[in-house]
Amino acid sequence: MSLLDTARTAREMAYAPYSKFKVGAAIRAASGAVYAGVNVENAAYPEGTCAEAGAIAAMVLAGDTKIAEVAVIAGSTVPVSPCGGCRQKLAEFGDASVRVTMANMVGDERVMTLAELLPGAFHQDHMGEH
Ligand code: THU
Repeated sequence: MSLLDTARTAREMAYAPYSKFKVGAAIRAASGAVYAGVNVENAAYPEGTCAEAGAIAAMVLAGDTKIAEVAVIAGSTVPVSPCGGCRQKLAEFGDASVRVTMANMVGDERVMTLAELLPGAFHQDHMGEH
């Protein structure tokens, strides 16, 4: 199964009763292992979490911290674009060259690198001595 297929299958399990906007994400780690995530909303709206965050949590729990590739899919008009917060979360674990495949449910796809999605990302090494 492709990484995008994994994200598409995961999306069915999204918990999005408020926005009705189901999102699925899948991450291939450098180890080769694949982790999926879905958005999980909450009646207290800001407490909801994105699909990418769920996939990252699953990856870290399993002991992987290096992202090789990402796929994300939703029922959007154009290939779904990771939110700003998720771009930063992905940048924590993925190099600038990591490819992020964005898709919708009618076959539109777009690929961008993490550097293109978040130019000038803030990284740990920017903190220097403190
Ligand atoms: N959402 C994601 O899970 N990932 C994205 O890349 C875009 C937005 C979720 C958050 C919320 O549950 C719903 O989509 C509508 O914003």
